[in-house]
Amino acid sequence: MASNGLAAAVLLLLVHIGLLSSSCYADDPFVYFDFKVSYITASPLGVPQQVIAVNDEFPGPTINVTTNNNVVVNVRNKLDEGLLMHWSGIQQRRSSWQDGVLGTNCPIPPKWNWTYQFQVKDQIGSFFYFPSTYFQRASGGFGGFIINNRAIIPIPFATPYGDIVILIGDWYTRNHTALRKSLNGGKDLGMPNGVLINGKGPYQYNTTLVPDGIDYATIPVHPGKTYRIRVHNVGISTSLNFRIQNHNLLLAESEGSYTVQQNYTSLDIHVGQSFSFLVTMDQNASSDYYIVASARFVNESLWKRVTGVAILHYTNSKGKAVGPLPDGPQDEYDKTYSMNQARSIRWNVSASGARPNPQGSFRYGSINVTDVYLLRNAPPVTIDGKRRTTLSGVSFVNPSTPIRLADQYKVKGAYKLDFPEKPLTGPPKMETSVINGTYRGFMEVILQNNDTKVHSYHMSGYAFFVVGMDYGEWTENSRGTYNKWDGIARSTVQVFPGAWTAILISLDNVGVWNLRTENLDSWYLGQETYVRIVNPEENNKTELPIPDNALYCGALSHLQKPEDISSGVTITASISTVAVTVLTILCTLMSISR
Ligand SMILES: *[C@@H]1O[C@H](CO)[C@@H](O)[C@H](O)[C@H]1NC(C)=O
Ligand SMILES: *[C@@H]1O[C@H](CO)[C@@H](O)[C@H](O)[C@H]1NC(C)=O
Ligand SMILES: *[C@@H]1O[C@H](CO)[C@@H](O)[C@H](O)[C@H]1NC(C)=O
Ligand SMILES: *[C@@H]1O[C@H](CO)[C@@H](O)[C@H](O)[C@H]1NC(C)=O
Ligand SMILES: *[C@@H]1O[C@H](CO)[C@@H](O)[C@H](O)[C@H]1NC(C)=O
Ligand SMILES: *[C@@H]1O[C@H](CO)[C@@H](O)[C@H](O)[C@H]1NC(C)=O
Ligand SMILES: *[C@@H]1O[C@H](CO)[C@@H](O)[C@H](O)[C@H]1NC(C)=O
Ligand SMILES: *[C@@H]1O[C@H](CO)[C@@H](O)[C@H](O)[C@H]1NC(C)=O
Ligand SMILES: *[C@@H]1O[C@H](CO)[C@@H](O)[C@H](O)[C@H]1NC(C)=O
Ligand SMILES: *[C@@H]1O[C@H](CO)[C@@H](O)[C@H](O)[C@H]1NC(C)=O
Ligand SMILES: *[C@@H]1O[C@H](CO)[C@@H](O)[C@H](O)[C@H]1NC(C)=O
Ligand SMILES: *[C@@H]1O[C@H](CO)[C@@H](O)[C@H](O)[C@H]1NC(C)=O
Repeated sequence: MASNGLAAAVLLLLVHIGLLSSSCYADDPFVYFDFKVSYITASPLGVPQQVIAVNDEFPGPTINVTTNNNVVVNVRNKLDEGLLMHWSGIQQRRSSWQDGVLGTNCPIPPKWNWTYQFQVKDQIGSFFYFPSTYFQRASGGFGGFIINNRAIIPIPFATPYGDIVILIGDWYTRNHTALRKSLNGGKDLGMPNGVLINGKGPYQYNTTLVPDGIDYATIPVHPGKTYRIRVHNVGISTSLNFRIQNHNLLLAESEGSYTVQQNYTSLDIHVGQSFSFLVTMDQNASSDYYIVASARFVNESLWKRVTGVAILHYTNSKGKAVGPLPDGPQDEYDKTYSMNQARSIRWNVSASGARPNPQGSFRYGSINVTDVYLLRNAPPVTIDGKRRTTLSGVSFVNPSTPIRLADQYKVKGAYKLDFPEKPLTGPPKMETSVINGTYRGFMEVILQNNDTKVHSYHMSGYAFFVVGMDYGEWTENSRGTYNKWDGIARSTVQVFPGAWTAILISLDNVGVWNLRTENLDSWYLGQETYVRIVNPEENNKTELPIPDNALYCGALSHLQKPEDISSGVTITASISTVAVTVLTILCTLMSISR
C-alpha cells in the first residue's frame, strides 16, 4: 500500500515536471478553483426544494479570469449521480477533452473528484458554466464565467465602474429528478413556476401575484456611475425579455464579440444566450427600480407569475420601487419585432478582439463554403414507444463510449459518421449519428425550426457567424439576404418557430463538438448531434493529447482505475503539492534568468 503510494507520488512528480516544463515556456499564469457540487435546500419560490449549489452557493461563484490564463477547476461531485461541468461558450481550443458533455467525456461518478484544465484563448467576454448531465441545470449548478482582456488589448468603451453578473431563468419547484421523470414518462413539463434572478424569486411588486416572504435579489449601485451588466439566460426553455425600469441598456457585447453599441429599453434573451450591457445610473434615486425578466411569446394573463423581478438599489435611494412593472414589448404572438431586434445586433468590425488584430480583418463573407447542412427540428414524436425530439429526423442517443474517447482507442461502432446533410424523409430514428466535419472547411448550417416554440442552438468549441434569419422555409435564394459583413459571431442563436437561421462556421478547432438545442427538455430528448473534426495529418499541435486523468466508461470501463481515497492519495497529494511548489519556484527562477 505504502509503496504503491510512493510509486504514485513519483509518477505524479514526473507528470508535474512534464506539465511544468511545458508551462514554463507557455509563461501563461495558472488560476485554480475548487468546486464542491452538492445539494442544498433553498426556497427561491417559497417552497423548500433541493437545489444544486457550488461551494454551498446558489447560483455558483463567478469564474473571472483573463485571456490566456490556464484555468484549473477541481470539481468534487457530492451529488448522488454522475456529473459533467460544461463551460458554455468557452471554446476549449484544441481540447474537446475538457468540454464536459456526454458525447465527449465520461461523467464524473458520485463522490469523485475530477480536475478540468484548459487555457482560455482567443476570446474575451461573458459566458457561463452549468452541469450538462441528467437535467441537472434545472436544479442549478450554474454560474458566470468572465474572460477579461489582457491590459495590452483595448476595449471599445471606457472602463466601467463596476461589473455585475445577472443570471435569469425559468424555474420549477419540482427538482431535476422529478422533471426528468416526467419527460421519461412522455409528459410535457408544463408551465414553469417562476423566473429566478440570481437564484432568487420575485420582489413582491403585487401582493396577489407574489406571496409574502420571498427573498429577492438586490443589486446595489452608485449614482452617476456606468456598470457593465452581464446577463445570461440559464433557464430551461423560456425566452425572456430583460429590462430595467427607467434605464437604457447599451448593448456592448454578446458571447465574446463586441457589438455595434445601441440602446435598447428591453432585450429578448433566449435560453443559453449571454449579453453585456453598459448601464449608466442616471436616474434621480427618488426610488429603487425594478429589474424584470418576463416570459416571451406566451399568454401573458396566464403567465403573470412567471416573471422575475429584482431590485436596482441606488446607494442614495429614497424609497422602495413602486407601481406596476415597466412594460415589455406588447406583441404577444407576433415575433417580427423580436426578429428585427435580433437582426439589429451586429458586430463592431473595427473593435479589437482577443488577439491584437482587428476582428473585422477576418472577412467571413468572402470565404467559400465547403459543407452545407440543413438541420430541421420538429415537435416531439414517438419512436419505439418513447417520446423523443429530433434534428433532421434523427433523435440523438448518447454513446456509452464517448465519441472522442472511442476514436482515441479505436473502439468500433460507438457512433456513426452519417448525419444527413438534408433532413431525412423517412420515419424518425434513434441513432448516435454525427456530422463529419472537414478540418479547415467552412461550414454553412441552416437551422429550420418546425417546432411551435423558439429554440436556441449552441455549438461547443466555436463562435459562429450569424448571417441570416427569416420566416418561412429556407431556400437557395435565401442566401441573397445574408449579412456578409457584420453578422455577429457568437455561440448561441435563436431560431423562431416557422423560421430559419443561417450560421457559418470556420472549422479550425480539432475535436468532437456538441451542436444542440439549448432548450433543456428538447435537448434531453435527443435534439442534438456532434461535429467531428479531425486533422488528417496527425500531430500534437492541432489537438492536445488525452489528459492523464481521463475517465473511462462504456467499452473502455476496464481502463478506469478505482479512485484511491485511502491515505495513500493524501500523501501523494501533499508530495505533489510540494513538488508543484518547488517546481513553480524553479520555473519562475528560470523565466527570470531568461
Ligand atoms: C427530488 O424530488 C423528489 C420528489 O419530490 C424527491 O423524492 C427526491 O428526493 C428529490 N431529489 C433530490 C436530489 O433532492
Ligand atoms: C479532492 O479534492 C479535495 C479538495 O480539493 C482534495 O482535498 C482531495 O485530495 C481531492 N481528492 C482526490 C482523490 O483528488
Ligand atoms: C466600435 O469600436 C471602435 C473601436 O474601439 C469604437 O471606437 C467605436 O465607437 C465602436 N463603434 C460602435 C458603433 O460601437
Ligand atoms: C472580474 O475581475 C476584474 C479584474 O480583476 C474586475 O475588475 C471585475 O470587477 C471582476 N468582475 C466580477 C463580476 O467579479
Ligand atoms: C396585481 O395583480 C392582479 C392580477 O393580475 C391585478 O388584478 C391587480 O390589479 C394587481 N394589483 C396592483 C396593485 O397592481
Ligand atoms: C444611450 O442612452 C444614454 C442615456 O441613457 C445616452 O446617454 C447615450 O448617448 C445613448 N447612446 C447611444 C449610442 O444611443
Ligand atoms: C425624480 O424623477 C421622478 C420621475 O421622473 C420625478 O417625478 C421626481 O420629481 C424627481 N425627483 C427629483 C427630486 O428630482
Ligand atoms: C389567455 O388566457 C386567458 C385565460 O385563460 C384566456 O381567457 C385568453 O383567451 C387567452 N388568450 C389567448 C390569446 O389565447
Ligand atoms: C471561391 O470560389 C470561386 C469559384 O469557385 C473562386 O473563383 C474563388 O477564387 C474562391 N475564393 C476563395 C477565397 O477561395
Ligand atoms: C469524412 O470526411 C472526410 C473528408 O473530410 C472523408 O475523407 C471521409 O471519407 C468522410 N468519412 C465518412 C465516414 O464519410
Ligand atoms: C412544419 O412543417 C410543415 C410541413 O412542411 C408545415 O406545414 C408547417 O407549417 C411547419 N410548421 C412550422 C411551425 O414551421
Ligand atoms: C503526441 O504526444 C503523445 C504524448 O503526449 C505521444 O505519445 C505521441 O506520440 C505524440 N504524437 C505525435 C504524432 O507526435
